[in-house]
This record gives sequence, C-alpha cells and structure tokens, in this order.
Amino acid sequence: MGRFYVTTPIYYVNDAPHVGHAYCTVNADAMARWHRLIGDETKFLTGTDEHGQKVADAAEKNGLTPKEWTDRTSARFREAWDALGISYDDFIRTTEPRHYESVQKFLTRIYENGYIYKDVYQGLYCVSCEDYYTIDSSIDGKCPIHGRELTEMEEENWFFRLSVFEDRLLEYYAEHPGFVTPDTKRNEAYSFIKGGLRDISITRTSISWGIPVPWDEKHVFYVWYDALINYLTAIGYGRDDDEVEEWWPASHHLIGKEIIRFHCVWWPAMCMAAGLEPASHVQVHGWLLVGGQKLSKTMAAEGGVRLSDIAPVVLTNEFGVDPIRYYLLRETVLGNDGEFSHEGITSRYNTDLANNLGNLVARVTTVVSSKCAGVSPAAKTDSALRHEAEKAIADTAAAWNRFAPQSALEATWNLIGATNAYLEQHAPWKMEPGDAVDAVMGDALEAIRLVAILATPAMPGVCEEIWRRIGLSGTPADKTFDQSATWGQYAGGHRVGKGDPLFPRMKSDA
Ligand code: ME8
Ligand code: MG
Repeated sequence: MGRFYVTTPIYYVNDAPHVGHAYCTVNADAMARWHRLIGDETKFLTGTDEHGQKVADAAEKNGLTPKEWTDRTSARFREAWDALGISYDDFIRTTEPRHYESVQKFLTRIYENGYIYKDVYQGLYCVSCEDYYTIDSSIDGKCPIHGRELTEMEEENWFFRLSVFEDRLLEYYAEHPGFVTPDTKRNEAYSFIKGGLRDISITRTSISWGIPVPWDEKHVFYVWYDALINYLTAIGYGRDDDEVEEWWPASHHLIGKEIIRFHCVWWPAMCMAAGLEPASHVQVHGWLLVGGQKLSKTMAAEGGVRLSDIAPVVLTNEFGVDPIRYYLLRETVLGNDGEFSHEGITSRYNTDLANNLGNLVARVTTVVSSKCAGVSPAAKTDSALRHEAEKAIADTAAAWNRFAPQSALEATWNLIGATNAYLEQHAPWKMEPGDAVDAVMGDALEAIRLVAILATPAMPGVCEEIWRRIGLSGTPADKTFDQSATWGQYAGGHRVGKGDPLFPRMKSDA
C-alpha cells in the first residue's frame, strides 16, 4: 500500500468555473478514486486562489469587497464539484488563516536561508496571467496569451534568487526522468531552465490584497508566490511536521500546460530553497478548445463562446454527471489539447455509453429475466471471455497507474465490446432456458461485474447502479482492486433487475 497525494491547480476566483476547470478536476478525481480503489492512502486537494490583482479587480467591478467576492465565487467552485461528484478530501482557500501561517513560515525559511533580497523591479506585467513579460516575450507589447495591453511596473520589491538554482534543477531533472510528464512538456520545462533563469520579484507594494511579508509589512506576496505553497499548507506545513513528513513528497500535481513554468521551475526551486524535496510528479494536461480557442474566464468577457452555456452544472443537467465525466476522461489523451463540443459529447454518449455499455447491461438483464427466471447464473472458470477480461484488467490498471484515463477506458471498453460480441455469437435470447443459456449469461454477468470495477474511477454513480442491477450489494469500490478484480467471483443466485435504460439515446442536433 502506498501513499498518493493528488492536487489540481487552485483556481482564480475572478469568475465562475467553466468546463476547462472541470476537465482538470475530473481527471484528478478519477486518479484519486483509482488510488483509493487499489488501497493507497489517498489525499485529493483542490481549492481556490483568491489573492492578486485580477481577483481584486473583479471584486471592484462587481461592487463588492474582495472578501465578499471571493466567498461568493469560491462557493460556486464547490457547487460545480458537488455536481460532478468530485471526491476531494480538502478544499483550500488561500484566504484561510492556515494558509497565511504556512506561507509566512515557508517564505521566512527561504529568507533566512539567504535566497531573498531587495531590488527595484521594472518591467511589463499581464494582470490576466498574473505574470511578467519582457518586450521579447510579448507580441507587439501585448500579452501573448490574452492579447491584452501589458502594464508597465516599477517598484521596490523583494526578489527570489531563482538564478542560483539552475544547476540543481537540471540535475534534479536528470535524476528524476518522470518528474514532469508527458515527455514533451518535460522537455519544454527543461529547455526553459537550460535557457537561463532570472531572479523573480515576489512581493508588491502597489496592492494590498495579498499575504503580508512577515519581515517587511509594507509588502504583500505576489499571488503566485503564495498560491504554490497551498500544496504544503494542506498537509500542515509549519503547523504539523509529522503530517508533512507523511505526505511530502508523495505528491502529484495535475496542471494545465500554461502554468508549467510555475510548477516545473519555480516551485521545485522554492522547495529546494526551503530545504524540502520537490514534489514527486507534475502531470501536465492540454487545453479544451472551442472552435480552436482556449476556453478561459478572461476570454469570456470579450464575446465568442458563452461560457455560461457550457458551465459544468449546465452540462451535468443536460447529459448526466457520469456521461460528462466519461467524455472529459475518454475523448482526449491527457497532455494533448482537445476540442470540446456538444456534438462530441452526444456522439460519445450514443456510441460508447448507449450502444455499448448500456446495451450490454440491458441485454443481459433482459435475458436473465426471461430465460433464467430473473435469478443469475454463476460465472464459469474456463470461459472464452476470461482471457479478454484478464487483458482488460491488466491494461486498465496499467493505464490508470500511468495517468492515462483515455487508454484505461479504452481497455475497459474492449471488454465491453468482447462481451457484446460473445453474446451475439451465442445468441442466448434464441436458446431454450437451460444449462447452455446459464453458461453464457454467467460469463456475461461476470464481465459486467468486472467492467463496473474497472470503470468506477470514471463513472462511480453508473457503476454502482450496474452493481445493484446484477444483484450485488455494496459498491464496486468496497473491496480493493486486488481482491475483487479477478475472473470468476460472480457467484450467481442473485435477483437481477432490468430497470430503465442506463443511457437513453440522445438525438444528435445537426
Ligand atoms: O492558473 N482547458 O488559475 P486558473 C483545460 N490560480 N484546462 C483548463 C482550461 C481549458 N480551457 N482553462 C483552465 C491559475 N483550465 C492559478 C493556479 S496553482 C498554485 C495556481 C484549468 O483559474 C487548467 O488546469 O487560471 C489550468 O491550469 C487551470 O484551470 C488554471 O486555472
Ligand atoms: Mg488561467
């Protein structure tokens, strides 16, 4: 049994959550559920990033104090995660006292270790990114991501000596080939470090919405500098050394590709400066695009897609929780960009869920009702399906273990396909009741039982329902994977329920 600590980025509360945030959070949730299933002690952290200029501006625009605005908007993230069945263990807000305490202790440690000094900062800044640019890294003086005018800044700031960590970071990357995945993103971070690092300004005097610098109260920390530390706050940094010891560095940060530099360069250097090991793994994912454009809270203000039409809560009402989860996990390889569309959801839904999984469960429960008097036969040990099932079990597990939900689901769906083909081959609905029907149905039920276990990280609600329909008590996640995911455990003798279609077909709106 291992330990697994998985995190999402903490999201800015300048606006409501959209499906891009849901994408990352659902992936992290499936990972957490998978690790709980295999018996790992698991902690899943998400939350909201509430300081900085962008959030302060949003509050002002809405006529509220930052505190009122962040309370309101942070709650909307929780609502969205509740609607999506997100099983987070902790939800952190950077305005909480526990975070102030950890941040101040962590940064004081770095200060005392000699990695923080005072200087004048002069340069360009994008409030939407909360990030610095130079003329070279801008596009005609505008932000390359948001296309907005950059702000000129000049202030006396505290700086972090990022530059002195160049060699240690390169060494760390060389010694930990799996630190950043996928490889393409690892190489991006590595080349960035190789290109040379400059010290970074980490405090502000021009704004007050932030965490005060303990040794110089005129300053507050720059929002990114406080935000990254949330991963340590949640495991008690500066408050409970044993807890830190237990969970660090067993951590996996799931992040979008636009924040690689912060997580793969700054963050490991900050940890080194504080005398900690860097996190063990950063998994980078790509962007959901609509019409080829990144969905973002910032873009929303400028027209184009109506984000409110594809808000997570709207989507779960329209398609159901598990179908949306399935779509987000199955459609795109984690690490690549993917196009988000209603047509895409409808087509996945009809093909994979209605025609394959839904149809399998419906056929089997119908035949058991009509040919086996509603009582299920047992699985045989020497079934033709056994080999397919064992392959699906091994492939699915391997894929979840390497953060590849798309291939995990593909492997599980291979078993669904094989079971449907097996049924078509034997056509038990044409047979007379008796041993031959029982033999086929026992195997099909066993395959369904295994599918319910394999797919439970992705679709916990539907898998529980399938479990009930084949007459099992509890849930597919009650036993650990090792105990339950082996062929031949379906003992039969259960009442099997037909129920309504699991996935009624959707009309595809042309
Ligand atoms: O960057 N496609 O917060 P943020 C896929 N507060 N994922 C998307 C996405 C899209 N179109 N849009 C957003 C911040 N995301 C900081 C993080 S962490 C210490 C601080 C997801 O509200 C993706 O995971 O801009 C991305 O990295 C994250 O939301 C950024 O959310
Ligand atoms: Mg962003």
